[in-house]
Amino acid sequence: MKITFQGHACFIVEGTGGSIIIDPFLRDNPLARIEPEDVRVDAVLVTHGHFDHLGDAVEISKNNNCPVIGTFELVNYCQTGGAPQGHPMHIGGSFQFPFGRVKLTQAFHGSTTDTGPVGNPCGFVVTMDGKSVYHTGDTGLFSDMSLYSGVDCALLPIGDNFTMGIEDAIRAVEFIKPKVAIPMHYNTFDVIKQDPQVFKEGAEKLGVEVRCLEPGEATEI
Ligand code: NI
Ligand code: MN
Repeated sequence: MKITFQGHACFIVEGTGGSIIIDPFLRDNPLARIEPEDVRVDAVLVTHGHFDHLGDAVEISKNNNCPVIGTFELVNYCQTGGAPQGHPMHIGGSFQFPFGRVKLTQAFHGSTTDTGPVGNPCGFVVTMDGKSVYHTGDTGLFSDMSLYSGVDCALLPIGDNFTMGIEDAIRAVEFIKPKVAIPMHYNTFDVIKQDPQVFKEGAEKLGVEVRCLEPGEATEI
């Protein structure tokens, strides 16, 4: 499984069965190095309706004629907005797609677009080629993250203010015990400025490898 960070909470995940983009905030993302038209994927996963996650989801779905995957309410919103395909799901549900398996998890946050609320936010556990990655979405810390303990990789927000900060993200690492943790949702805006090395030092004391990726950088899990 190859994971490429595109800044903020955006990741491209590739396996032998295909590739996906999660939370494709690119055009207005000051950290992103690619544009929506550069993206070639088999699905677009969106954790919630906030602009910094929904981003360019509809455009990428159109360009690739591929589904938007997320909660029922958010997928309906995207299809009304022009996405040619959608696959609505909900928290606790999973589905086997050609590229891999997707499970929706809880996230404690909001989910509104510029026109109003679109249901609950979520996270995703994506499994490809026997490897699993848990994108927690925007969330505060919650102990049920331990339900996904043992995933190969956890993508965790560390920015604070809107989500967990570093201290709670280290506790999340304790709950999830992933093989590898990758920090996200920091340094995009002044209000979420953080030093990811502080997270790395804290999480590595727990015996978990941390990889801090630069936007555009890829890692193999
Ligand atoms: Ni958000
Ligand atoms: Mn956010």
